[in-house]
Amino acid sequence: MKLRREEKAILDGRQGRGAARAMEILAALGNIHGASDMVAVKSVQVSGVSYRNIGEHGLAFLEEWAGQGSKAVVPAFMNPGGADRKLWKALGLPAEFVSMQRRVIKALMRLGVKPALTCTPYHAAPPPAFGDHLAWAESSAVCYANSVIGSRTNREGGPSAIAAALTGRTPRHSLHTDEGRLPTTVVDVGCPVATTADAGALGYMVGQLLSHDPRGGIPYLRGISPPRDGAREAWLKALGAAMAASGSVGLYHLEGVTPEAVSSGPELKSAAGRRVTVDSLEEGRRKLFSAKGRPNVVAFGCPHASLEELRRLDALLSGRKAAIPIWVFTAEAVRAKARRSGLAERLEACGAVLIADTCIVVAPLAELGIANVATDSAKAAFYLPPHQGVGVYFESQEDAVEAAVTGMLQASHGQAGSRTAPPPGKDDGGPSGTWPPRAKA
Ligand code: F3S
Repeated sequence: MKLRREEKAILDGRQGRGAARAMEILAALGNIHGASDMVAVKSVQVSGVSYRNIGEHGLAFLEEWAGQGSKAVVPAFMNPGGADRKLWKALGLPAEFVSMQRRVIKALMRLGVKPALTCTPYHAAPPPAFGDHLAWAESSAVCYANSVIGSRTNREGGPSAIAAALTGRTPRHSLHTDEGRLPTTVVDVGCPVATTADAGALGYMVGQLLSHDPRGGIPYLRGISPPRDGAREAWLKALGAAMAASGSVGLYHLEGVTPEAVSSGPELKSAAGRRVTVDSLEEGRRKLFSAKGRPNVVAFGCPHASLEELRRLDALLSGRKAAIPIWVFTAEAVRAKARRSGLAERLEACGAVLIADTCIVVAPLAELGIANVATDSAKAAFYLPPHQGVGVYFESQEDAVEAAVTGMLQASHGQAGSRTAPPPGKDDGGPSGTWPPRAKA
């Protein structure tokens, strides 16, 4: 891979030892992937933030790199960590874990990475623009940036994202190139995809269909469009998050909707070598449904909820008090805006808890005695059973809100037999007495 003069200078230590090491990593990765050269990036999103995931070795690696004195030269943001920095005590997290999590955040801040602690950096800061090259790491954020915004990013690992932050560059290959963004498969959808949960179920199925594509599947979807109201963005986000989870899809094109499909749909379509059809979402819904008892909690915000999604939840609750706790995961920047506008207080009065900086998949569910979660997120439904050992009621947001309020959940996609989960009783292992936390952040 060709390095320009300034890139060679970084490699020679002009920007410090940390940046030299970063350029070494990027050059090696570029050679592995057959990149022609480096491309300048506008922003970086760094994964590997949760101490639960990286452990003491990951922390030591970050602290050592932070000690080499180089800092991010472009805006760089952290993915969610393992703890809400304000609510951790109320959430029942051990102080020792939180102190290790703080060290991770501190090391990344020394590297110049901002503690946005979100998988939706496009809600927490001005979003990137069409055509911007990025080096983002979290799979749903990568899919959203590539597909919905039309920016260009591969899915980075933790070290390669930090390396991009310290140098402002990433190797040009795959989704940074025109040919790397051509679709591999046309997906004809012949059934309604109305809600964000429907979009998630479809994304899950498409990801599975494309998961064996050797080039990395890129679908060109036809026959559906997102809602025209405020739910549009959440629908598009859910679609990409689910296919990124089940099939490592980093980019989708949606005919007449996503920017590249709008500007060059016919050329894109003709590039796809394969065609598949999805005529029903039933199989996806069924596979994402894994609950084996009553839901102890209703969770939204995977990916992290936007202000618009919080407003929508407020409208669905319309002042009613939840019988089952509602957790909403979001970015601290979004929570702060909701707090300033009074939205957070209204949601809390209904029994919702706004949780920032972390993610449902790394929340301490087992420690809190949670066995089943109700959610409209296909991504959460995909990851929670293997990662946390909990079951999932995968439902539309409307149904999940009704369940939270009435305590009754229509198990429409569950096992045959009883189709209704009764209200939680005293003996059903619900959240411990500390939940929902009363503290406000
Ligand atoms: Fe975000 Fe965690 Fe879901 S990182 S997309 S809330 S699994």
